[in-house]
Amino acid sequence: MRYAILGDIHGNLEALEAVIASARSFGVRKFFCIGDIVGYNANPKECINKIKEIKALSVAGNHDWAAIGKMPLDNLNDWAKAAIKWTKDNLDSDHIKFLESLNLVERTEQFILVHSSLFKPEKFDYIKDSTQCLDTFYCMDRNLCFIGHTHVAQAFVAKENKMQFVDAKTFCLEDKCKYIVNVGSVGQPRDYNPQACYCIYDPDLDRIEIKRASYDIPKAQSKIYSAGLPEFLAKRIAVGE
Ligand SMILES: [Fe+2]
Repeated sequence: MRYAILGDIHGNLEALEAVIASARSFGVRKFFCIGDIVGYNANPKECINKIKEIKALSVAGNHDWAAIGKMPLDNLNDWAKAAIKWTKDNLDSDHIKFLESLNLVERTEQFILVHSSLFKPEKFDYIKDSTQCLDTFYCMDRNLCFIGHTHVAQAFVAKENKMQFVDAKTFCLEDKCKYIVNVGSVGQPRDYNPQACYCIYDPDLDRIEIKRASYDIPKAQSKIYSAGLPEFLAKRIAVGE
């Protein structure tokens, strides 16, 4: 069984559908989501429906919480605030209930899912370097933790009490090591590659692969314009910033 771990979808249905199709073409049968299903792009309801349809075990991201009033908008930039206000107006009660049902942390036998950091996950602190990952390594009761939030795929390994960046998009997990894997963003990548990003985990081979999937960006952009969302949100998905 191969698993796909995806997240930071941000209401981008075209990107989500492309990722699901890509993952299935590689033999994935089970999906997991590290949150931020909504916010920024124009199809929040449709993305929630799709996550429910593929039965992806999902955790809550900061945009999911902001969209249901569970956290203030103070820490969001102006584009994110505008998108959250629009998203709030465009969710119905079923979608709100679904977002309210999401936990901040989920565990399977093999791994942990959290949007940002395992240490005080409700604070949504960013993990961008080997110092910021220390608290999460300390909190891990599995050897593998999938995260998102930065919209940049990245992996860290703790080996013999040393933290290192994993400089590869495909790698195998070693015994007696702990790994934090940021799966990148489906709907708004920020590594200057506009293709949708996600991760495949093969527990039989203990292998992690960061994957990219191209999708119909002009279609997603036209929906952003039609919805009256900020133009920058349409422009950035074509660049991957
Ligand atoms: Fe996000």
